[in-house]
Amino acid sequence: MEIVIESNSERAGVLAARLIARLVREKPDAVLGLATGSTPLGVYRELVRMHREEHLDFSRVTTFNLDEYVGLSGAHPASYRRFMEENLFSQINVAPQNVFIPDGMASDVPGFCREYEDRIRAHGGIDVQLLGIGGDGHIGFNEPSSSLASRTRIKTLTPKTRQDNARFFASPEEVPHHVITMGVGTILDARQVVLLALGAGKARAVREAVEGPVTAMVPASVLQMHPSVKVLLDSQAASELERSDYYRWVYENKPDWQRF
Ligand code: GLP
Repeated sequence: MEIVIESNSERAGVLAARLIARLVREKPDAVLGLATGSTPLGVYRELVRMHREEHLDFSRVTTFNLDEYVGLSGAHPASYRRFMEENLFSQINVAPQNVFIPDGMASDVPGFCREYEDRIRAHGGIDVQLLGIGGDGHIGFNEPSSSLASRTRIKTLTPKTRQDNARFFASPEEVPHHVITMGVGTILDARQVVLLALGAGKARAVREAVEGPVTAMVPASVLQMHPSVKVLLDSQAASELERSDYYRWVYENKPDWQRF
């Protein structure tokens, strides 16, 4: 794992955007795994800026989103499809037919999940997966106790996650109980993973994921088993790390050819 600690959330988001942009420039038909929530907003703002001001071209890019609420159509204001349309897709030149997000209205959920996995494979797999982290260490919507080998499937949200996400809904009772999410195994198949965590509310989950044991009780901890993970943090999210001085030292002393 490479842990990068930036002084503030904006810089951490810009760094994540720069990694994605570099990939898209090197591989114009890249397959991006995308995330929702407050955390990636700065990443998407920067990608939109690069598209407008630096001609970053998404016309051949394919995207797969991590997750969606069961029972919400793309028109629902809190659906992840709507989130992606508003914050990214409507502002860049990605082709609508290259955008894939789990369908919260699928009538055959297991069948849909199998097709989602097949589709990722048919596109050659995900080149870079962007992740946030839940306060309980979840990635996508893989809550604690998720199988570390899991694939795309339906999951039940914990009360804490429903509570954390209630701010996106008109009332807390409206937060769906079920979601479709890529599995932990699906995420591990990505060639590269960028986990972004911002703010003091994530400090404990970050410490457990980065410095704790690999355990299904902290699904993000399994990223320790992935060969190419960058964990981008602001100083608050890094505040509980025991070895933050070492991570900073490593980053400052990287060989030039490894910089990003
Ligand atoms: C949701 C999403 C996750 C996201 C998490 C954290 O549960 N399914 O992908 O990482 O929220 O959200 P936020 O970035 O708003 O803190």
